[in-house]
Amino acid sequence: MAERLGITITKHIMETQRKHFPDATGDFSGLLTELSIAGKVISRAVNKAGLVDVLGKTGDVNVQGEEVQKLDDFADKVIFQKMDHTGYLCAMASEEVDELIPIPDKHPQGGRYTLAFDPLDGSSNIDVNVNIGTIFSIHRRVTPETQKGALADFLQPGRTQVGAGYIIYGSSTMMVYAAGDGVHGFTLDPSIGEFLLSHPDITMPRRSTYYSVNEGNRHKWDPRVQRMVDHFKSPVSAGGAGYGLRYIGSLVADFHRNLLKGGVFMYPADADSGKGKLRLLYEAAPLAYIAEQAGGGAIAEAEDILDIKPTELHQRVPLYIGCKEDVETCREFLTGKR
Ligand code: AHG
Ligand code: MN
Ligand code: MN
Repeated sequence: MAERLGITITKHIMETQRKHFPDATGDFSGLLTELSIAGKVISRAVNKAGLVDVLGKTGDVNVQGEEVQKLDDFADKVIFQKMDHTGYLCAMASEEVDELIPIPDKHPQGGRYTLAFDPLDGSSNIDVNVNIGTIFSIHRRVTPETQKGALADFLQPGRTQVGAGYIIYGSSTMMVYAAGDGVHGFTLDPSIGEFLLSHPDITMPRRSTYYSVNEGNRHKWDPRVQRMVDHFKSPVSAGGAGYGLRYIGSLVADFHRNLLKGGVFMYPADADSGKGKLRLLYEAAPLAYIAEQAGGGAIAEAEDILDIKPTELHQRVPLYIGCKEDVETCREFLTGKR
């Protein structure tokens, strides 16, 4: 008896398009499908990282002032080369590239979408075999299709995203995406090279029992943040059960755990970083979109991440993201209500 194959991500994307966007051209579906293929190529390199020359550093420093890991560079190039000729995009933005990335003249111009991405999130964990990921954010362009993509196409509030997702390279490789119709997770079956639907309609619990923060930064935090984290550490919180601490150091992995099991992740602004470490366009906004689609929330301080109008490509923001009630507790501490 032939094994029943689950629903592939390609089929799921097409069914979503047929159900919700019957008059679509298929470009958005094609974009998501190409991203899933890029995820498979990166997954293969990650899973052999100890055997192929992708460990270690390239010797370069990126616009973030961080040393570029070979796998950062590899993932960045895989995504660019997968996407640049599709005709779906008007331009791209990558954590690893200072300026906007135009579509090369030799390829079809006038794509209707933008793609902003963190090609490899959790770089500090690459060489120690801890979960890492790729994060992506998709907007409709706002400039005329007769022109090349421009910065204005990227400086849109996260709430106007048409899709967002991530690929997490861990004990298995999963792709999680949202496109306005809930959050869905697909697990890569390497034996057939397909992402199969494994987590349909993911929703976050209202409140959780995990908090996730780098306690080593405590001395740099504002007193309101110190009080907030003390609240989550207190044994009487969460109805007396208290919260557990989980911190992996890869945003995608910490977020993914909180999405599936519940939790609140915090990367506060601190004395060193000023606005915080994480980037709005390709870390905070796409994950905030997914969090809200799953019934959770995400704030910078008083305001929702998705309401922030970006002013620059690599803008950093504080990030508090996870279960709705936990995020609202964070907002109460940050606005002085607690
Ligand atoms: P990236 O590897 O893309 O630069 O992102 C790393 C980020 C994020 O993944 C994680 O949450 C955070 O760095 C961890 O920062 P600390 O090591 O300062 O805790
Ligand atoms: Mn990152
Ligand atoms: Mn990165």
